[in-house]
Amino acid sequence: MKIARFSRIGFILAAAGSAVGLGNIWKFPYIAGEYGGGAFVLVYLLTVLLIGFSIMIAEMLIGYLGRKDTVTSFEKLAPKNKKLWKLGGFQGLAGLFIMIFYSVVIGWIFNYIVTSLIALPTTVKEAESTFNAMLHSDFTTQMLYHTLAFICITYVLNRGIKGGIEKMNMILMPSLMIILAGMFAYATTLGAFTQAVSFMFSPDWAKIDSDAFVTAVGHAFFTLSLGMGSIMTYSASLEKDSNIVKNAFWVVFLDTTIAIVAGLMLFTFLYEYGSAPAKGPGLVFISLPAVFYEMGILGNVFAVLFFVALAFAGLTSSVSLVEPMVQYFIDRFSWSRLKSSISMGLFFWLFGIIAILSNIDGFKESLTWGGKNFFDWVDYVTAAIMLPLGGLIMAVFVGFIIPKSQVESVMKPHLGWAFEIWLFSLRYITPVAMFVVMLSLIGVI
Ligand code: PFF
Ligand code: NA
Repeated sequence: MKIARFSRIGFILAAAGSAVGLGNIWKFPYIAGEYGGGAFVLVYLLTVLLIGFSIMIAEMLIGYLGRKDTVTSFEKLAPKNKKLWKLGGFQGLAGLFIMIFYSVVIGWIFNYIVTSLIALPTTVKEAESTFNAMLHSDFTTQMLYHTLAFICITYVLNRGIKGGIEKMNMILMPSLMIILAGMFAYATTLGAFTQAVSFMFSPDWAKIDSDAFVTAVGHAFFTLSLGMGSIMTYSASLEKDSNIVKNAFWVVFLDTTIAIVAGLMLFTFLYEYGSAPAKGPGLVFISLPAVFYEMGILGNVFAVLFFVALAFAGLTSSVSLVEPMVQYFIDRFSWSRLKSSISMGLFFWLFGIIAILSNIDGFKESLTWGGKNFFDWVDYVTAAIMLPLGGLIMAVFVGFIIPKSQVESVMKPHLGWAFEIWLFSLRYITPVAMFVVMLSLIGVI
């Protein structure tokens, strides 16, 4: 059988498609807002540079050398204790778990594309009650769009690396970038733009505590798609002789740029038009639609385009979240791609229904434990435990387990003098940082 491989640009767009997601456009602006802007952004940027970039290279390397699903790759590359190390590959499960709520949120976005076409809420209050009505009492709408997300994602997965994943990213990623660039260009012409710049880039160190630090590190992982085997799985389909460092650079660069562009744009709009920029997860679904209304007819166009861009970002990330497990069942159990795609799709579709119900009045009471509903639990367990753990395992695996000579022979030509710095980051900086993050997130420190 001929093995499908990404083209050079196809890989970069697919990996960037994985990275650029709801994390950039929905999550980054609101957490940057919550932690006071500048200082938080700086910590996040440093984390991306010192830890994220190193792990991105490490994850690409495991996939590139392993050439298989994540479990097989770990098994193949461990010189001994193969049975133990192959467990590292089960980080792919985290992606499937994340999909349980990610798909539901994409459903909300689909719904917002449609409602923005019809009419925008005239006030923040109205926007808030519209959002809450959907979240807490409209099971049917959420179910409809969640199912639509499931169909789109499963369809692309079934078409495979070339005809599905690469093709999707070759179309959606440039479209997404054009939409954001256009809206960003408009934002720069507004008076409030300088206000947004100074909010995002002048550090207010008083706002940085250990909590902000941990959030910045955790977000750097989430936003770069690290610690779950997505990047690893895509890298298994790299051409021979790919320049991993260059690829990693592009993915990190695009992800970071798009987060900053989205942040600047949203804050400009909020400062310019919004009277009450609601902080928190409602930023995009509550404050923003009301702001678009204030903009008049242009706002209507922007609203639709914005949610379309957000849907594109979410869908390309979704496909990468599920692909590791799809690949796993293909490689290890000889399942057909169709069977594997549908089975993994059904998994997150079914649990997604529970996630929807856990926000619905009358059901949420029995789907809530310890102050968190099912939806929040899935988010929490993946982000607080699985993801930092996945990152830690990868850093240790490349830093200490794969024979140094093997790592060196592939990486030294590309990294040169930076090779030792990279290895140092993997061996010492990353594990310590990840460990602290994990303890702190689960509330030990
Ligand atoms: N990086 C994506 C985002 O920023 O929304 C989310 C994500 C995708 C996380 C794929 C992890 C992953 F493996
Ligand atoms: Na991202």
